[in-house]
Amino acid sequence: MSTAITFEDVSKTFEVQGRAFEALRNVDLTVERGEIFGIVGYSGAGKSTLLRTVNALERPTTGRVVVEGLEISALTGSALYTARQRIGMIFQQFNLLESRTVYKNIAYPLKLAKVPEAEILDRVEELLAFVGLSDKALAYPSQLSGGQKQRVGIARALATRPEILISDEATSALDPQTTGEVLELLRRVNAEYGVTILLVTHEIDVIRELADRVAVMEDGQVVEQGSVYEVFSAPRTATARRFVSSVLHHIPSEEVLTKIRAVHHGRLVQLHVEDRDTNHPFLSRVARDNDIDFNVVFGGVDELQGRLFGSLTVELLGPDDRVDAAIDGLRATATVTAIDPGPTPHSSVPAARTPVPDARPSVPDAHTPVPDAHTPVPDAQSPVPEPVEGHAEHPTILKEHTHA
Ligand SMILES: Nc1ncnc2c1ncn2[C@@H]1O[C@H](COP(=O)(O)OP(=O)(O)O)[C@@H](O)[C@H]1O
Ligand SMILES: [Mg+2]
Repeated sequence: MSTAITFEDVSKTFEVQGRAFEALRNVDLTVERGEIFGIVGYSGAGKSTLLRTVNALERPTTGRVVVEGLEISALTGSALYTARQRIGMIFQQFNLLESRTVYKNIAYPLKLAKVPEAEILDRVEELLAFVGLSDKALAYPSQLSGGQKQRVGIARALATRPEILISDEATSALDPQTTGEVLELLRRVNAEYGVTILLVTHEIDVIRELADRVAVMEDGQVVEQGSVYEVFSAPRTATARRFVSSVLHHIPSEEVLTKIRAVHHGRLVQLHVEDRDTNHPFLSRVARDNDIDFNVVFGGVDELQGRLFGSLTVELLGPDDRVDAAIDGLRATATVTAIDPGPTPHSSVPAARTPVPDARPSVPDAHTPVPDAHTPVPDAQSPVPEPVEGHAEHPTILKEHTHA
């Protein structure tokens, strides 16, 4: 595959009331031609800002954005206009022209491009059929449901036959049933028209349903990326784990971990196994070889992209050195993630591990489950957060990976 979009060390600083605010920090990402790439993150992570650099609605302060071989971040005027025709965009709020019919909404970008009227007619009819709205050509947006409006949005975005479609929370205002239908339509846009899709969302389910690869953003940075299978089966960062545990229930949430810790005082590890790993009883063998006991305290098996994977949270019981040796033994088969024993109540955390707050507004609450579209975003006017005492921002899982 060749490359559709490359973000090269992209940073974006906004000036807010005389202070610099970094919305994007050194983002490096590559989206391959023909794939569906999802970016997930909580409100304020910088997803929309990053997406808007793809069609130069936003320009990086430093770094480059290259789209289909063109450095879009450096284009202006008619060169930018031409480049933008190769990039369709859809939005959470649809952004339709309320005073124009469905037909005229879809025709609008073609009119701007001075396409002849007869050709516009053919193209719009084809698009209406593709999105299943042939009978709504003369309706006005106010007469449509949310799902129908987004279908019009998709048809309009495809009007100029773009190679790339970018989507900013396109299903976040829709109910689950309608979301499913719109995701199915996006899948067809990718499969039938070969359009590369880059989508951003705070809904991890959308990523799970639609994307081939995923990046997780937090505080303007990409903190994790990989295939959807990789990230869902073995999330490495606390943020990715929070998202994944909200939809795949074999990975304990922070709340569940607290309960597990209260009962199980041995060494806790999480074992991520893939379909090919599980054809032998590795856990009991490793325990026997190292003369330790184990307890499976949480876990399950799931399916994604046609492949099985599982996660077990296991308590290992025995002297430290033998538990260490057993963990090494487990790594031969599973990805082993050590689980932090958890915060000690009433003790302050060593300064070196306390994140130093800077001028950035913080993401709502590190322990909030997936926020919905109505979670207030801390805006740039939010007061600077106080220094964080304690454990609130500490990842529970220490990164400790095998399968290097
Ligand atoms: N034009 C702007 N001026 C100042 N701050 C902005 C601007 N656009 C976005 N931001 C800030 O940048 C951060 C990231 O915003 P955004 O990219 O919209 O995040 P997300 O889409 O992940 O919710 C937020 O804190 C937001 O307030
Ligand atoms: Mg956004």
